[in-house]
Parts: sequence; C-alpha cells; structure tokens
Amino acid sequence: MKIYIAGDHAAFELKEAIKIYLLEKKFDIEDMGCHSPEAVNWAEYGAGAAGRVSQDPVNSRGIIVCGTGLGMSMVSNKFKNVRAALCHDEYTAEMSRKHNDANVLNMGARVLSVERALKILEIWLNTGFEGKKVPRYKERIDYLHDVVENSNFK
Ligand code: RB5
Repeated sequence: MKIYIAGDHAAFELKEAIKIYLLEKKFDIEDMGCHSPEAVNWAEYGAGAAGRVSQDPVNSRGIIVCGTGLGMSMVSNKFKNVRAALCHDEYTAEMSRKHNDANVLNMGARVLSVERALKILEIWLNTGFEGKKVPRYKERIDYLHDVVENSNFK
C-alpha cells in the first residue's frame, strides 16, 4: 500500500512527524508537500494527494492535514473514489475504517497534539473495513460511488 501525505503550513510540523512515524514503520510513502512552514494554499496541497488516491483508491491511502482538518477534508472529498474522514478522536478513526472504509485521513494540527494525532493515525492504519463480515457496509459504499458520485460528478 502506498501512502500519500500532505499538509499546509499550519500542519507542517505534524506532517513531518507523520512522515517520520510512517518511515519508521516501513510504509511506502510519498510526501506531496508543503515543504516548509511558509504560508501556502491548503487546497492545492490537498488536491495533490487526494488526486493520487483517487487514481488508485484500493492500493493507496492519504494522510492529509491542515490547521483544523476542515479544508483538507473538503478538498479530499471533491475527488472521485475518495472517502475522506476528518478524525479528532480514536473512536471516529476506528469507525471510519470499520464502517466507511475511509481511504483518506484528515486531522487538524491546531486541534490535536502530535502525540494524539499519531495515536489516531495508528488506529486508523490498523483497523480494517468490516464490509465482508457485514455486507450492508459495502452496499452503502457501493451506493456512494455507483449512484451518488456517478450522478453528481462529471
Ligand atoms: C490556515 O491558516 C488554515 O486556514 C488551514 O490550515 C486550515 O485550517 C483550513 O481549513
């Protein structure tokens, strides 16, 4: 699995900590920026990483962060095949994987400590989708893509 990480200036420090964490765990990652704490447009960096996940939604994930996580969750969910979850606690991180098969995790660096964000990330990475055990979870995801996305996206 490939993991695309991205963040704006407000989350630069968090993105760097996430990068170190993922590299230590031997994940195959690509850092899509930004590369300094200088102010940037979050939408641009979020779009870069979410666009990659959109192209390979099964074999890739995105960890896309900003100050609140709000802008990054908005831009992430503008992409086909992306199911982005804004998580600021362990429970929603776990549920976003079990029930929603989220393939992008958004967090806010101004909301969470780095330590808590890494804990949430760990749960998110280690929790599987329960769609095989509970077929209705998969049916809902299929509806999201086959019906909602296909009727609203060009
Ligand atoms: C940057 O100041 C801030 O607006 C951004 O990081 C994010 O919180 C946007 O949603």
